[in-house]
Amino acid sequence: MQEKEKKTGETPTRRIDFKISRFKPGLIDPPRFQTYSLEVNAAMTVLDCLEQIRLTQDPGLVYRHSCHHSACGTCACIVNGSERLACLTRVWDLESQIVILEPLRGFVRIADLAVDMTGFYREIRAEWELLRPAEPLAGAADGGGALRLENCIECGACVSVCPAATAQPAFMGPAALAAVHNQMPKTSADERAALLARAAAPDGEPMCERALACSRVCPTGVYPARHIADLRRLRKA
Ligand code: SF4
Ligand code: FES
Repeated sequence: MQEKEKKTGETPTRRIDFKISRFKPGLIDPPRFQTYSLEVNAAMTVLDCLEQIRLTQDPGLVYRHSCHHSACGTCACIVNGSERLACLTRVWDLESQIVILEPLRGFVRIADLAVDMTGFYREIRAEWELLRPAEPLAGAADGGGALRLENCIECGACVSVCPAATAQPAFMGPAALAAVHNQMPKTSADERAALLARAAAPDGEPMCERALACSRVCPTGVYPARHIADLRRLRKA
């Protein structure tokens, strides 16, 4: 990176350009890139910068986030071409003076960096034992009522990077297949057979192109490709 640090009080900063893909149905349509410039210190994450830009330059910028510590999965987006959690990605670590931000692929886009995650949950069934209640939501009468997967933060990065999932929207996708495989040891023999049959359907594991990209981008070590390989072995056994 071209060193162009300047002192702001005690904290050195670098001026970074954020080239953000914008989209608002009917308003910024078709999508286009908009560039925002910001002084960034070594501690700032991509999410910190999005918040600064929204606060100081463009209150209309849309992105998702909640926890700020890689637990909720909502801030996943494409940073300089790779699926990442915005809250985990320190801007200086990218070693680039331009940071290009795009929404995840393979999901319907709502606005700017926000995508509709409905499709992600299509195959996740409420009675599965690997589901746990979400952390209570402040102010929600029922505590929020949402269910979370035990070991996956539902960020969607694996779906976005998967060539099969982005080309074929019917594909169950890496996270759902990993969830199916995780559920299998926790259930009856009949249910296991039903889960294996679901995973082996044409829109399931057979659609996987073995790109292995899902395991590379997963921020929580789910390794979906390994689960898919195990499902394939079980189908052929
Ligand atoms: S399997 Fe990993 S990459 Fe895929 S949604 Fe879950 S946490 Fe994200
Ligand atoms: S804000 Fe929750 S994972 Fe990034």
